[in-house]
Amino acid sequence: MDGGKVALVTGGSRGIGAAIVRRLARDGMRVAFTYATRRDRAEQVVSEVAARQGHALCLEADTADAAAMAGAVEHTVQTLGRLDVVVANAGVARAGGIDTLPAEEIDRMIDVNVRGVVHTIRAALPHLGDGGRIVTIGSVNAARAPFAGAAAYGMTKAAVAGLVRGLARDLGPRGITVNNVQPGPTANDSMSADGPAAQAMTKWLALPRIGTPEEVSALVSHLVGSEGAFITGATLAIDGGFTA
Ligand SMILES: NC(=O)c1ccc[n+]([C@@H]2O[C@H](COP(=O)([O-])OP(=O)(O)OC[C@H]3O[C@@H](n4cnc5c(N)ncnc54)[C@H](OP(=O)(O)O)[C@@H]3O)[C@@H](O)[C@H]2O)c1
Repeated sequence: MDGGKVALVTGGSRGIGAAIVRRLARDGMRVAFTYATRRDRAEQVVSEVAARQGHALCLEADTADAAAMAGAVEHTVQTLGRLDVVVANAGVARAGGIDTLPAEEIDRMIDVNVRGVVHTIRAALPHLGDGGRIVTIGSVNAARAPFAGAAAYGMTKAAVAGLVRGLARDLGPRGITVNNVQPGPTANDSMSADGPAAQAMTKWLALPRIGTPEEVSALVSHLVGSEGAFITGATLAIDGGFTA
């Protein structure tokens, strides 16, 4: 149990982020999380956590907006008293070639998936002390692109993997660990575990199924908990063998 610790998760209203919020709350942390537009879904996550005697609060903040992220971090620290764990999860994925995707969609991926991660970590750093934990949620598409249309998204997630290696060196002396989790295909609102999209994905996996958000959240729980203290600078795949 990690009672007393405070975590901030970006993009916690749905999918992998929501599972991470629920898991860290179950681990005993008080969890603040951001969302972009889906207040209804964010409030549902807050209620689910409260129903299990946990504590979560949701904040509307576009991760791509540095001022909004700074505000979310300040609000978290003022309301919950401290900050120990940051999970930069919010991300957007658009499939298509760099010559066929609208330029604004490529820019948006860079803004949310790369700049947003930097904004989040920059805002959090003054508050993190010895024992602090940073986890980014990247993607296996940083390492493999076995289908067409993943270049721009993969570029953003490869940038995150590079950021994490350097940050681990920069923050090690402060006792802060930094790791990057790279999920493979994982069930979410747009891909149910047993739907046709998931079925189509399994041809790239070693296991005959896609992953669940709860499986990703269990890895994050390990990295930010006391047993993950000696893991830093790592990029860890949780992908059913996508990168095998
Ligand atoms: N699912 C997969 O197969 C998969 C595989 C590899 C990597 N990933 C990565 O895992 C992370 C989560 O993916 P997911 O599938 O769980 O996504 P998802 O179901 O689409 O949920 C995305 C979450 O991020 C939030 N969000 C999006 N843009 C945001 C912004 N600009 N500012 C703040 N919050 C924002 C959304 O908020 P709203 O609810 O308000 O829209 C939502 O809570 C992403 O970084 C994604 O790239 C996913």
